[in-house]
Amino acid sequence: MIVLGIESSCDETAAAICRNGKILSSVVSSQLIHSKFGGVIPEIASREHEKLLNQLVHESLEESGIKKDEIDAIAVTVGPGLAGTLLTGISFAKGLALGLDIPVLPVNHLEAHIFANFLADPSLEYPFVCLLVSGGHTQLWLIEKMNHYTLLGETRDDAAGEAFDKGARIFGLSYPGGPLIEEEAKGGNPKAHHFPRGLMGKESLEFSFSGLKTSLLYFMDNFQESDSVKKRDIIASYQKAIIDTLVEKMKRAIQKTNVKTCVIAGGVAANKSLRETLESSLPTIRILFPDLSYCTDNAAMISYLGELKANAGESWSIDFGVKPNLKLA
Ligand code: KG4
Ligand code: ZN
Repeated sequence: MIVLGIESSCDETAAAICRNGKILSSVVSSQLIHSKFGGVIPEIASREHEKLLNQLVHESLEESGIKKDEIDAIAVTVGPGLAGTLLTGISFAKGLALGLDIPVLPVNHLEAHIFANFLADPSLEYPFVCLLVSGGHTQLWLIEKMNHYTLLGETRDDAAGEAFDKGARIFGLSYPGGPLIEEEAKGGNPKAHHFPRGLMGKESLEFSFSGLKTSLLYFMDNFQESDSVKKRDIIASYQKAIIDTLVEKMKRAIQKTNVKTCVIAGGVAANKSLRETLESSLPTIRILFPDLSYCTDNAAMISYLGELKANAGESWSIDFGVKPNLKLA
């Protein structure tokens, strides 16, 4: 089966071709225009998707060597995400599907992030725990098989990606903040300052990052670089506070569920320090990470999950609408 995937839930426009579980092409265009505003402007994002979708679909077809009329189905992100940008992607996907007389399948963006781990290693076995860490979500899931997901814990306020993005703004870095904080933290001393870790009570699998952000805001009000403490030391300490929290909760989730495998998913999963800390903290657990290019938003994960769902016999009618607040379970 050949599936074209389309992703437009936020500020990445993406198209990909999946054939029988293999990604033949995956093209992503990140909308750099938002960086000067310090965050995504929804109207601008929708207009950018509109401009780019057709071109990206052609690029993904060309790269994969697949012809338009060979596509069996189109998979498109239906939510969660920004209503306007989702609508742009869905309208485009439906128009193309009608023209080609093929089905169009709505895909849950969060579920696709999790399933991107099967692209890294098709031998990944159920059950596993997934730490889903993106710009809008921080959740721990027990994944028993497709469509059988149990939420173990989630953030009560900011998502981990948001903590990176808001922290970056306080440090005077641009958007998206995660990769910039990761870069600046290199060579910094992560023990220079101890930032608070939220909801660390013994049993809790919930997250909270808003106190950390406030604490950084107050700290930076009075901070002066000196020979002994540089700004990069504070950036490294801030990143460590986020990562320590994520890793501790992952450890607890594994203890609680007694599974032997865990994965991470979403944009923050691209963070190398998070990957290394997880590996050193959980030496007896099998840990999988998606390829860096499949952590942040992409259409490969959409086409892959669309194909899995179609093969599992799930069927859809074309009259679905956007689901900006779509949940996983
Ligand atoms: O999954 P994603 O691309 O979009 C959403 O579905 O939200 O995640 C975007 C988030 C942003 O908050 C970005 O700052 C963060 O992922 N991010 C990172 C890194 N790369 C992206 N955070 C930490 N380290 C990174 N290397
Ligand atoms: Zn995402």
